[in-house]
Amino acid sequence: MEIHVLDAMAREGFEQVIALHDRDSGLRAFLGLHDTSVGPAFGGIRRWHYRDEREALRDCLRLAAAMSHKTVLADLPAGGGKLVALELPGVDWEKGYAYLGREVERLGGRFYTGPDVGTGERELAWIAGETGFVTRPDASGPGELPEATAAGVVAGMEAALCLLDGKSDWSRRKVVVQGLGGVGERVARALVHAGAQVLGSDIDGNRAERVAEELGIELLDPSHELDVECDIFSPCALGGIVHDLSLARLRCRIIVGAANNILARPEHGDRLHERGILFVPDVIVNAGALIRGAIFHLEGRREPVRLIGERVGSAVHAVLERAVQEGRPPARVATLEAEERLTRRRREKE
Ligand code: NAI
Repeated sequence: MEIHVLDAMAREGFEQVIALHDRDSGLRAFLGLHDTSVGPAFGGIRRWHYRDEREALRDCLRLAAAMSHKTVLADLPAGGGKLVALELPGVDWEKGYAYLGREVERLGGRFYTGPDVGTGERELAWIAGETGFVTRPDASGPGELPEATAAGVVAGMEAALCLLDGKSDWSRRKVVVQGLGGVGERVARALVHAGAQVLGSDIDGNRAERVAEELGIELLDPSHELDVECDIFSPCALGGIVHDLSLARLRCRIIVGAANNILARPEHGDRLHERGILFVPDVIVNAGALIRGAIFHLEGRREPVRLIGERVGSAVHAVLERAVQEGRPPARVATLEAEERLTRRRREKE
């Protein structure tokens, strides 16, 4: 399928898309700046095996626009961007990331970058050698990101339970956490402390065993999480978990998780709504890391994790309230709310 870059940019309201090729390292990448109307764009670096460059460009546009939704819903004076690097044979990645660091530096603070799929602590350190416009993973950075994300997820769960039942009442709740990695383990730990019954799963058997033993939670076979009757199903592994086939299996009342794009397609949020399952949009609930990084860069301070949780909790509350008032699926309301706010702030800027 063809992609007309300028048409796609105009359709999605993009400001700038930069195609990058580094002669020295062989790196190829796209940098998309979706919105910097009220502040710098934030977005991590995704490094992925794309079929071709069109697929990479499309992903860059999709992810950068999604970051604008995330920043505006988190009420940050910032916008969305993304760097997408093509996983190709023969690239010298250390040089490649250093090159990306110089390109980010050249933007002079219009774009701040950080981790994403394929870009971890090692790669961030390579970038940090060239620019300060990056979220550093060490003690000089904003603090732990998974901790901030987990605080938002738990706050989102509380907001959902309060909406349905008027209180969180953790000692009577059963929660299934899929993926016991950086975020999932912390979510499970917080829920155990709050008194909930927690069941967890992870395809990494050693990790699953260690976390289960430490927290005293029951382990589920990966792929059986969907079949368990529970109050909350929390996808903290991969996106796209709610799709045509999985929908009918779900036996939870609420879905709240850290994974990006939990719904395979927007229509799946409508199906959940029809089934009476409350879906808390991940674009709001997993913004804890972004909030932590953005406040650090923009205000030069480290936001306490408790305040990050409260901020995400009230953002979730506002969108769920609107969804109830308008009788619409929360994921649709989140998209609408984000687009309305983006339009409003661009208009105010004019
Ligand atoms: P992670 O890589 O530390 O943990 C993910 C865990 O899920 C791993 O232990 C992995 O073995 C497990 N897993 C993978 N596929 C699975 C499956 N099918 N069933 C069960 N377990 C499976 O990642 P992290 O940082 O905990 O993030 C979790 C999710 O949240 C990811 O999708 C990430 O993109 C998203 N996210 C994370 C943020 C952060 O601050 N770390 C911020 C926003 C989103």
